[in-house]
Formats: sequence, structure tokens, C-alpha cells
Amino acid sequence: MSNDTLRAETEPDTNLSLADQAKRALAACGANVATATDGERVVSRSPITGEILAEIAATKAKEVSDVIGAAQAAFEGWRLVPAPARGAVMKRLAELLTEHKPDLALLVTLEAGKIPSESAGEVQEMIDICDLAVGLSRQLFGKTMPSERPLHRLQESWHPIGVVGVISAFNFPVAVWSWNTAVALVCGNTAVWKPSEKTPLTAIASHALLERALTEHGYDPAVSGLILGAAEVGQAMVDDERVALVSATGSTRMGQIVGPRVAARFGRTLLELGGNNAAVVTDSADLELATRAIVFGAAGTAGQRCTTQRRLIVHENVADALVERIRGAYAKLPIGDPREEGSLVGPLVDADAFANQQRALSNAVEQGGEVLVGGGRRLEDQWPDAYYVEPALVTMPSQTEVVRNETFAPILYVLTYSDFAEAIALHNGVPQGLSSAIFTSDQAEAERFLAADGADCGIVNVNAGTSGAEIGGAFGGEKETGGGRESGSDAWRAYMRRTTTTINYSGEIALAQGVNFL
Ligand code: UN1
Repeated sequence: MSNDTLRAETEPDTNLSLADQAKRALAACGANVATATDGERVVSRSPITGEILAEIAATKAKEVSDVIGAAQAAFEGWRLVPAPARGAVMKRLAELLTEHKPDLALLVTLEAGKIPSESAGEVQEMIDICDLAVGLSRQLFGKTMPSERPLHRLQESWHPIGVVGVISAFNFPVAVWSWNTAVALVCGNTAVWKPSEKTPLTAIASHALLERALTEHGYDPAVSGLILGAAEVGQAMVDDERVALVSATGSTRMGQIVGPRVAARFGRTLLELGGNNAAVVTDSADLELATRAIVFGAAGTAGQRCTTQRRLIVHENVADALVERIRGAYAKLPIGDPREEGSLVGPLVDADAFANQQRALSNAVEQGGEVLVGGGRRLEDQWPDAYYVEPALVTMPSQTEVVRNETFAPILYVLTYSDFAEAIALHNGVPQGLSSAIFTSDQAEAERFLAADGADCGIVNVNAGTSGAEIGGAFGGEKETGGGRESGSDAWRAYMRRTTTTINYSGEIALAQGVNFL
């Protein structure tokens, strides 16, 4: 079937219910959905209207163990497949993702509520990481080092570690899985995925494509496993000793549970937790450029990225001018059904997210803040179970408790500064350390922001916003963000174990450090 035919078949048909649109996209990806009959179920509810898309059987505790067991068994063979041959499977996955980009993007929109352009961007992010993984499959380099002993050689090799457990969040329901899985698999690991219980359909569809790529290349599809359900299902995986690494994306609270549990059994973790990202705007900044980046960073994805800009630290000389510009841009932001042409801000994911948004706004006011614009609910009469909110701009007298906490909603707190050192102190004065940005035309200021005593985040941008990182760099952050790095650069090392080897071809025993014995 050509791409065009497929596309035509899976074009969102607005005459169909959202559930039927999801069903068609799933079928196009060759995915089977086990509808729940009894027992625990996962309910996929579209944040667009609040209607139920599907009720799916959750994975039972015994089945979680079976999926991990199958991934463990598949590891025995997979780790011996030459890495470039593993890369070929990722190349096929990239092709399948390209072919099914409209189907997957539609599912992301239906389940996570993203606007189509952002949903397509998320699928593109999956394709990009597959490309990176293909290249990586020929570049899992080890070093050789000069030995201090004559006629000896020192070298490092990298080997896979086993089953990698991936826990992902609703807001990037597939990209974060693919960052972990594409890299883990080319490294020779197998993977088991526990997606957010809010986005099971998107997960089932993506996983089906990977199973197909594996099968077409003659490999055991158990190289990639999928388990569905609420926190208990994830916990069963976290506690399973056969899972060598747990890569978890979500709240700091979740990370505080996962981290110690995995550490207690000497497993590895890769944590990508809360962000509370700020942009510093200095008095030399190009305010037009800064405004565009800030509006996307703060209001894009309805404020539900871990890289969302939540704080604006602006020089007092330009604060009024910048706030006016942002206010003007916010006034024109189309908020509503993400499927509608022109919509830029879709819904919050659910009622809890809305309650958190409301609580944060009232706390901000209690703590001396002033809501300049936004914060209200929209489309409540049309869809009482969907939660659309206006992105809010809130000036704060200081970095109070509400500002130091991450609220997963479009609220941008504005703080002003007069001295650059004060800006850095405010910037770093929160527990999280994921992404950051500075807008300036002064190179010295940019350099100070990038220096060792500058921004303390994993991602530090100059004249570019906090969100929308490319996959080529390592992604992750410091402090309560958890310290993990995923995606590009040398993040692959987290998924491998290193062996250090000494080869002695002298025919004699020479001890290191000049030690004499025997
Ligand atoms: C996330 O929100 O968990 O940098 C990931 C970005 C995206 C990834 C966000 N590439 O905004």
C-alpha cells in the first residue's frame, strides 16, 4: 500500500466518533487491542471532549512477570546479534513510523490532546531517534589506553545490560519511549514499556510497529514488551530483579519512589523528573524574538511539557515592554479543540490537572502574586469533562513556594531583577534543574549564563526557548530532575556496562604500580 493510500484511509474523519477514529488509526498500524471484559482496566479518555476512547484490559501481575521473563529470554539471543544488524531493525522502524506518521499523530492528538503539528513533531522525534540509533549501531566505541606496563594493552568494551524497563508519561506518550527503546535495543538490550495509563492506545500502536520491524527481520518480538496499567503495574516492573535499568519519566514524587526501590536491589535508574524551567531576559535582548520563544515555551502543549517555561526572569528596564508583548500574544492565542484548524492551545489532560492549575493560581495570589491575564476555563458548557484553560501570566513579588513547585499547566510566573547575579540566583533558586534559556545580545552575559557558576540545568539555551530540544543532544537535568540523560550524544552509555581489559603479551607477569611479589 502506498503512503498516499494509507494517508487517505487514516485521515481524521470528523463524521466518526473519536473512539472510531482511534480504532481506525490502530488498525492501520496493525495493532490489536484487548478490550476489557473483567478485572482491572485501563480507560483511555480523550482530553479533547472527555469521552472514552477505549477500555482496555490491564496487564495482570503474573503477566507482567511473563513479559519481563520473555524479554529476559529474548536478551540471550539479541545481545549476540551484531549491533549494525540491530540497527537495521531501527531503520525499518523509522520507515514504518514515517509511513504511519498520520495514524500515530492522530492517536497522540486524541489521547494527549496535542495540536496536530505538535503530534506530528512528536512522531518525527521518534523517527529522528531511530536514525540516530542506526548510526549509533556502528559507533558503540570503546577506548584503548596506553598501559604503564611494557607489552601490555588496556582497552574498554561496552556490552548490553539486559532488560531495560521504560516508564513514560502522558505528555510525550511515544517519543520518550522511542528515545529509550531505540537506543537500548541497538545497544543489545531488550525493553519492556509501561506507558502512562492515560495514553495506552498510542503505546499499543507504536509497539505494534516495533514488533513488526523485529518480526520482519526474523527476530523474537519479545525483544520489546508492553505492559499496561496503573502504578502497581509499573511497581511490579520496578521491583523485578531481572530489569537491569529502569528509565522513568514523570513527577519528582514518582522518582522518589522508583529511585530508592531500584537502588535497593542494585539496579540502575535513569530519571527524568520535574522541570521548573526559566528564561532570563536581559535588557539587551531582542524582545520580539524572546516573545515568540516564550509564548511557545509557556503556552505550547498547554504547558504540559517537562521543558515548559514556567518562570520568566526579566530585567526591570524591559519588564513592562516584554510583559505587554506576551500579554498581546496571549490575547490572540487560539484555545480549543486541537483538531480545529488554527488551534494552538489544546486541553489539559484531565480534571486533576485542572484542579492543580486552579490551586496554583489561588496559591499564587495568596503569596502576593497578581494574575495579569488568563487562568480561566474555556468550553466548559460544550464539554463539561474537558478542561481547556487560558494560559496565565502571573507577576510575583518573589520566588515563593508556588513558583518553586512544578504545576503541569500553562502558568508563567514573572519575576524582575536589576543585577545579573540576582537573575542567576533566582534562576537557580528552585529544586529542579532541567531546562533554561537566556535572551540577550550581550555575549558576556550569555557566557556568564553558560559558565560553571551560571545556570545549573542540564539544558542551557541562548536565544532559544526552554522547550523543543533536538534528539542529537543528551536530554535530562540536575537536582530534583533526577540527573539522567537520554536521547543523543553519549547517553547510550547508560544502557551498557563497561568492561576494562588488560591484555598482557609480554610472556611475563608485571604488576601495576611497580609492585613486586613472587
Ligand atoms: C518531555 O516533556 O518529557 O524538549 C520531553 C522538548 C521535547 C521533549 C520533551 N523534545 O520539549
